Amino acid sequence: MIGVFDSGVGGLSAIKELKRLSPSVDICFLADKEHAPYGTKTEDELTELVYSDIKRLMISGADTVLMACCSASTVFQNLPISMREIAYPIIHPAAKRAAEVTTDGRIGVIATERTVASHAFSRELSEMNGVKDVIELSAQPLVSIIESGVTDARMTRRVRDEIYEIIKPIKKEGIDTLILGCTHFPHVLRTVSGMLPGVRLISPSREGALQILSKTSPQGRGELILI
Ligand code: DGL
Repeated sequence: MIGVFDSGVGGLSAIKELKRLSPSVDICFLADKEHAPYGTKTEDELTELVYSDIKRLMISGADTVLMACCSASTVFQNLPISMREIAYPIIHPAAKRAAEVTTDGRIGVIATERTVASHAFSRELSEMNGVKDVIELSAQPLVSIIESGVTDARMTRRVRDEIYEIIKPIKKEGIDTLILGCTHFPHVLRTVSGMLPGVRLISPSREGALQILSKTSPQGRGELILI
């Protein structure tokens, strides 16, 4: 069974991808709403939370864990080896896909405060061929907008304007690829895409799901357990 965790509804964007790619996979999902948001936590606080999330998923029967949270994935290296052996962070697969699809090497990242402060995406991307510039923008307020229930299907003009103001600084950077560096953001992928014509959007939820399924052979009947 694959364990999935996030601070909230971001994890659902990863579950959607897992179910689409492998409908019979069993999933155990933990949304740690009690400690949300994760993106404003210090590295130490986040390490403790992530440790306890993975532990809870393991106790509930997960044998692999998709860290469906970019902020959580920034502290992967702080986890004990026993957890690092079964957990899949999602920053690397998203960065890899961005490096593959960029044409002029200018890549944008919108993410939480913690993810931007860690420079986890720019460090990964700097190791990859074809990447020239990485522009990172904190879009933390977008997390609470989406956590309140906003999706592409449930969009209003007022919320669209709020989202536009948040992502506006990245618009003038001349990027050709944008990583939605927080699993909450794929819930408004179409809205953001409409604001950035010609820019390819990368979802960490999709790339993380693809990666974990390519490395494991999960069995199951398609059960979704919420803990
Ligand atoms: N969805 C998470 C992420 O990918 C956490 C957002 C938050 O709780 O701030 O970073």
